[in-house]
Amino acid sequence: MSVWAILAAAGSGERLGLDRPKAFAPLNDRPLVAEPLERLDASEWVDGIVIAAPPEWEEPCILVAEEIAASKVAKAVTGGETRSESVRAALAEVPDDATVVLVHDAARPLITNEVIERVVTTLGDGWDGAVPVLPIADTVKRLEGEAVAETLDRVGLVTAQTPQAFVADVLRDAFSTLQRSVTKSTDCASLVEANGGRVRAVEGDPRMLKVTTPADLGLVASWL
Ligand code: CTP
Ligand code: MG
Repeated sequence: MSVWAILAAAGSGERLGLDRPKAFAPLNDRPLVAEPLERLDASEWVDGIVIAAPPEWEEPCILVAEEIAASKVAKAVTGGETRSESVRAALAEVPDDATVVLVHDAARPLITNEVIERVVTTLGDGWDGAVPVLPIADTVKRLEGEAVAETLDRVGLVTAQTPQAFVADVLRDAFSTLQRSVTKSTDCASLVEANGGRVRAVEGDPRMLKVTTPADLGLVASWL
């Protein structure tokens, strides 16, 4: 088994509102991307890493990798307009002999080796993909403008995190078949699902919070 990780780090971080992309937001005294990169590099499950970097930030990503002495980074590619386009660009650089692709959001710095192991070892036995999920504690409502249109039945609803693991050929196939829906999807599992793949849910980790707002950044920093 050869596992390659794609670190999706190409977003601009608009909601964070800094003067630089989210991947380079300060997390304690390092750029945010250093944390998930170091953790992926240290995992015995990961053989190689491709980073999707914000345009013009490919070189700084490689410098971060050098600074933390990450030994598995093959390349930093230029990301795309959307997350899926960024993953597509990185996937093109994953070697053909990779059998498993792990896709992770750089915006979730606190990735753990336990979750990596959980998603990777779930594959096989008819499962094409694995995604870490969390139960929803709050009541979920659908709005139309400001009006509540509907209260959804919470049973069976979860939120999805990354890292998500896929049989490499299944992910490649999903990207080559589903040209249009690729742009809209916010995770890779949805592409594999739409392409008829079987994706299994495994236990997520609340500390793998996605940094979206400045408050999230403070919270993640306090957990380091
Ligand atoms: N991402 C990416 N390429 C894009 C957009 C997003 O690689 N074109 C990555 C981000 O870097 C992040 C993950 O996808 O690690 C989740 O995206 P999100 O949290 O929405 O990050 P941003 O798009 O950067 O933030 P915002 O939506 O606030 O601009
Ligand atoms: Mg975004």
